[in-house]
Amino acid sequence: MTDKHNPLAEGLRLRRRPDPCILVIFGASGDLTSKKLLPALYSLAYRRLLPEKFGIVGAARTTETDDEFRERMKQAVQEHARDPFDEAVWESLASGMRYSTLDFADEAAEDSLRAKLNDLDAERGTGGNRVYYFAVPPDAIGTLVREIAERRGAASSPGWIRLIIEKPFGHDLASARALNAEIKEHFVESEVFRIDHYLGKETVQNMLALRFANGIFEPIWNRQFIDHVQITVAESIGIEGRAGYYEETGAIRDIFQNHLLQLVAITAMEPPIDFTADSVRNEKVKVLKSLHTPGPKHVTRGQYGPGFIEGEEVPGYREEDGVAAGSNTDTFVAAKLFVDNWRWADTPFYVRMGKRLARRETTIAIQFKRAPHPPFEDGAAEGLRPNVLLINVQPNEGVSLAIGAKVPGQGMTIRTVHMDFFYGGTFREGLPDAYERLILDAMLGDATLFTRSDEIEEQWALVDAIAAFWQRDRPSFPNYAAGTWGPAAADELLHRDGRSWRRH
Ligand code: BG6
Repeated sequence: MTDKHNPLAEGLRLRRRPDPCILVIFGASGDLTSKKLLPALYSLAYRRLLPEKFGIVGAARTTETDDEFRERMKQAVQEHARDPFDEAVWESLASGMRYSTLDFADEAAEDSLRAKLNDLDAERGTGGNRVYYFAVPPDAIGTLVREIAERRGAASSPGWIRLIIEKPFGHDLASARALNAEIKEHFVESEVFRIDHYLGKETVQNMLALRFANGIFEPIWNRQFIDHVQITVAESIGIEGRAGYYEETGAIRDIFQNHLLQLVAITAMEPPIDFTADSVRNEKVKVLKSLHTPGPKHVTRGQYGPGFIEGEEVPGYREEDGVAAGSNTDTFVAAKLFVDNWRWADTPFYVRMGKRLARRETTIAIQFKRAPHPPFEDGAAEGLRPNVLLINVQPNEGVSLAIGAKVPGQGMTIRTVHMDFFYGGTFREGLPDAYERLILDAMLGDATLFTRSDEIEEQWALVDAIAAFWQRDRPSFPNYAAGTWGPAAADELLHRDGRSWRRH
């Protein structure tokens, strides 16, 4: 069978298998484990990308037996995995699966986890290699990291260790710095994998391919040819029962601080000299350092009130379970950002993100300057909009270029048409979930698509500056209805500059 006819081969190409190891998931009773991590691990197993000698240990406070954990994970995989459920694949994964009830403050519980890991090593031949996945709040990480380091010190023949750390990585610059410092006391940067799952999305990686594998874009990828950039991370879902978390974060810490700023960095970065973790991250951190701190006039926040999503009535944020009646948490942020460097000076990056917006859409739109002198008769190009290169991160993954074309017929009338590339129409292989890519990369020790400590800190510095001026005034919330495109102030942000958000 050639690769062309084997949809699974696509995913296998260029990937070596990781060394034998055990993946330990702290926080295994949470949603992330059932909705994302186990379905991703199952898909990796289905594609034979996991090490042959492999084990999974779930650890959390909830009391559960190994069998109960396996059964719960089986249901999660059946419900959420992108691949068909194959009993044999599941059985081989499940046979290396254990659960450990773990109260992080209780040393006896630690002993039971250690015993399970040692048994699995003996049974599966995983050689002491560990990937620790922290799907726990930031304040639980420090203690665990210390204990892992101490145990490594005491082990007679330690294998390698990698730490995957979920967001939120701290809650402001000071806490992120403290966490970075604590981790660095025991581990080197190449052992630490801070996840921003947007970097694992195919379409985000494709931005790098688009920019750096094609000669035609790079010469015009700058302030001379680009009028402005618009980045939208819109969700139609609300907070999905996560009030406890979201009340603390809001849109600014949930999306802006990480996913959104990473999209800005990928769009604006200089070509790296190679595709290694340090080269790519060196370029991204330069962008983050060059971001001009926006003033209050350039950032606007919102919170949704009741409204309609796809014809269904939905409650306002303040009516969601667990949200305080007078909550001033932001569920929407729009900002005008500037990257202060030679490539981008004076070119606005308009960004917006929010919950309960009209629909799910993540896009990066590069809007080019208009042609300097259209030689046509008056009115011929009335229907012509500026050229836009639109990167559809999700859904409808693909790239679309808006250009002017002559309308067939007598005379010269020009209007905007689109040259489109859709993943679905071009590639047979479906898109992997971001977590598949990232878990495998961490097992392989490749940190290119993970956030380095200095990036995280730059991202927090910007958020802290915005949060500081937000503290001084009281927003008038709610200020947008669920199912719309956010507050009027977000439109004004662009109207003041004679621009508007891309039409939907
Ligand atoms: C997470 C946020 O990081 O990203 C969620 O915590 C959000 O609030 C999610 O819904 C969006 O991810 P995706 O992959 O669905 O765009």
